[in-house]
Amino acid sequence: MGIHINPSILSADFAQLGAELQRISTADMAHVDVMDNSFVPNLTFGPPVVERIRAVSPVPLDAHLMIADPDRWAPQYADLGCASVTFHLEAAAAPVRLARELRALGARASVAVRPATPVEPLIDLLPEFDQVLIMTVEPGFGGQKFLDVCLPKITRMRQAISASGLDIALQVDGGVSESTVDRVVDAGANVLVAGSAVYGAESAEAAIASLRTRAEERAEERAGSR
Ligand code: DX5
Ligand code: ZN
Repeated sequence: MGIHINPSILSADFAQLGAELQRISTADMAHVDVMDNSFVPNLTFGPPVVERIRAVSPVPLDAHLMIADPDRWAPQYADLGCASVTFHLEAAAAPVRLARELRALGARASVAVRPATPVEPLIDLLPEFDQVLIMTVEPGFGGQKFLDVCLPKITRMRQAISASGLDIALQVDGGVSESTVDRVVDAGANVLVAGSAVYGAESAEAAIASLRTRAEERAEERAGSR
């Protein structure tokens, strides 16, 4: 799996979601941040809105659920057609059971960790997942500063994925931009979420293209240097 660029619609104009989704038609997926004012101190939207987003989006949906009790709420996002569903490890009571349920419903099963959560407990569970998401800001808001302290964790997870021999995506979310993309790809991430860097640009298409080109070049260098 090569580099994927998934813009986060958290930085889009929520009053024009249809048009805002058209702006990212050259992306791989639309990253949809669901927040419940409990797991994170912010509130966005839930299933009825995500269902409409799915209906009009030109690209598949990458749902990022920053919610309490994902065991109860996550499956319906798979049910309504999100291609990938990410829940937080810190919030899940039974992550393996939930991942299996998501896969059975036809979605990619993805698990996220906050900056202070270690990835080591996930290593033996990797066969259950299609993607691991490492947060590089505290979840809750767009436009925050990238946390460099998370880079070693990305490196360790990439090593674990390579050692597993499995085709698991490594997603990074938070503060990804022209100025941090090199570090993120060098550490081993291949799915890049960018909210403000894409929606804050005059041309979202140009921002996506330039992040993609830069990340692909860097990934090639990384492959060559090993
Ligand atoms: C933060 C969200 C992110 C956010 C990223 O809690 O999960 O997806 O939109 O925004 P930027 O790219 O601006 O950091
Ligand atoms: Zn997100």
